[in-house]
Amino acid sequence: MYTSQEIKILQDYTTKFKLHLQDVENAIKHIDELRSVLRFHEYRYYISNNPLISDYEYDQLFKLLETVEKDHPDLITKDSPTQRVGSSLNESFVTVQHLVPMLSLDNSYNAADLEDFDRKAREASGLSEIEYCIEPKFDGASISLIYENDLLTRAATRGDGVEGDDITTNIKQIRSIPLSAAFSKYGIQQIEIRGEIIMSKISFVQYNEWLEEQGLSPVANPRNTAAGSLRIKDPKEVGRRNLDAFLYHVSYFTKNKNAESPLSNSLETHSNQLSMLWDCGLRSPEKEKKVVAGIQQVIDYIQNFESTRDDLPYEIDGMVVKVNDIALQEKLGMTSHHPRWAIAFKFKARQATTKLIGIEFQVGRTGAVTPVAKLEPVHLGGVTVSSISIHNEDYIKEKDLKVGDTVLIERAGDVIPQIVNSRPELRKGNEQNIEFPKHCPICKSTLFKEQDEAVWRCVNIECEAQVIEKIIHFVSKDAMDIKSFGEANVRKFYEAGLLKDIPGVYQLQFDEISKLEGFGKKSIDNLQTAIESSKSQPLHRLIYGLGIRFVGETTAKTLANSIEHLFDFKNKTEEELQQLEDVGIKVAKSIQHFFSNHQNIQMLEQLEQLGLQLKNTKKEVVVSGGLAGQTFLFTGTLPTLKRNEAEVMAEANGGIIVSGVSAKLNYLVVGEDAGSKLEKAKKINTVKIISEAEFLKLIQQPSE
Ligand code: IVH
Repeated sequence: MYTSQEIKILQDYTTKFKLHLQDVENAIKHIDELRSVLRFHEYRYYISNNPLISDYEYDQLFKLLETVEKDHPDLITKDSPTQRVGSSLNESFVTVQHLVPMLSLDNSYNAADLEDFDRKAREASGLSEIEYCIEPKFDGASISLIYENDLLTRAATRGDGVEGDDITTNIKQIRSIPLSAAFSKYGIQQIEIRGEIIMSKISFVQYNEWLEEQGLSPVANPRNTAAGSLRIKDPKEVGRRNLDAFLYHVSYFTKNKNAESPLSNSLETHSNQLSMLWDCGLRSPEKEKKVVAGIQQVIDYIQNFESTRDDLPYEIDGMVVKVNDIALQEKLGMTSHHPRWAIAFKFKARQATTKLIGIEFQVGRTGAVTPVAKLEPVHLGGVTVSSISIHNEDYIKEKDLKVGDTVLIERAGDVIPQIVNSRPELRKGNEQNIEFPKHCPICKSTLFKEQDEAVWRCVNIECEAQVIEKIIHFVSKDAMDIKSFGEANVRKFYEAGLLKDIPGVYQLQFDEISKLEGFGKKSIDNLQTAIESSKSQPLHRLIYGLGIRFVGETTAKTLANSIEHLFDFKNKTEEELQQLEDVGIKVAKSIQHFFSNHQNIQMLEQLEQLGLQLKNTKKEVVVSGGLAGQTFLFTGTLPTLKRNEAEVMAEANGGIIVSGVSAKLNYLVVGEDAGSKLEKAKKINTVKIISEAEFLKLIQQPSE
């Protein structure tokens, strides 16, 4: 896709833009280069899986482009990286016709089925041996994309195969689908491509973690989540799910005037078409495909591939075998249901039956009591399953579970094992109903359930189980990342009476620990170093580590960026908190609840005394220019700055922040959705109404 020469140039541009992030004029002048830089890094991240810059650096560059385009809407192009972010909701989906009907595939389940398919293809073609292209059968939801003159113009669901729904806005949220692709170099003017929207195993796990943080029910498997995402009303929600795409079939294309291009001759096999897609920046199964001669090689390859299935980062439910020669595909044709030149080989479902031998109730760090089904150990898709979370009381009723039941289990989307159903017809009469406890299984206090929630909770914050889970969370990789601490050590130290709360992590008596079994000098040294160095972790990790309900990693970052010191939250109102991105009423309430609890404040004070960083050290405040005595008010959502970030910048340059619009106001800085303040300011001649970009320029002016 990119030559080494191009990569070098794009890296050079990247460095230059990174050095001049505040230089909007420069970005205006070089806007095409800025877009190329962003597309290049999207490609490295989403398609070739080999990023060259951090997410943070990408975001900074993206914000720069957004700033420019905000002030100069005339410079926006349809394929600008910013144009993915649809702000308006999908009211309804328009039905559109596919250029070529989206047929399904015939299925095969064993070698004999494949031999039969091959025999028919050989007979129809008169060939003694056929070349096949084999690729994974991606387990997601199929889509079709149309690119015209190199621009993505339409994305549609499969629908009934003839007509589907136009889901272009949602599909633009998926970053592995480029908004433009250089098909013209292959002499292609219009092209229709088929592919699959999938959710990777890791995105599935992360999405479920996020749902859990929000107090929402988990999704069952990646396939259904991907499929359910296509017709979602809010495109932003599609973006949150971190979906992916594989594009595996060119169903139609027309040639342009460059049809003589030497490259246009390279489209005569399916395998070459996949290479062409890859070369144009689309994620085709270029690395996963295999071209072989004759059906025996197909069978061998598929058998081998099945054993590597668990190692793939996404789910597949089989393989697809395609006749490689396009002319031969055309000759073989299709039935009304499926092409005669391709067949799916379906892997066996990973299901097993076992016995439910007991239920354990576990208490999590938020006090949620989760029933866990204990099973007779059973082998399922490469792992032994002996326990499965069964979420909550309603779930037990829904699945009609009793201790002693035979249950059918599967690895949902082959990631997390689940109980599919019980088999009541096999009951012998001695099965026992599952009684949900009324009291915490650890501290025995009464459990509570909030209206609209399915979860019972222990609300005793001193409950041992919660305390331990909170410390485990605090030291964990995504929080304070104290290496070599880990769950096992938290439990060990707690049981030995050497650790009783979060501040205790920084007050460990290492000479006592050295008396415990398995702690030599080296491991103690490592632990001590890891604890010490965690003290300078950035503030957002500490916020996340505190385990405030509904505050996940992303929210923790937003929160950290919005303050100077963690204690600033003591004085924030719910309304102020809700001004922050992704902070709704539930999250705001939870944050306020946390910071109004004096025990929590005491804990934080203790942590600060122990040397932890409660200040936001990463915040960049531009301290140049002179705004001495000038009054400022910010309104609406600013494109790149958080409200209080902008206020700090104004103050750092001598400006004064005022709370309302009056004749005393010098500057009203307006962002998106500015309301009554803007209207009022328009009526006062002396108030200068400026954008964020103009504000940034203002503070960069040297003082006189
Ligand atoms: S080719 C005309 N290739 O499986 C041929 N399909 O069960 C079009 N699928 O409807 C399909 N991976 O949604 C093809 N590598 C792959 C595939 C694939 C997944 C899906 C596709 C199709 C379904 C049939």
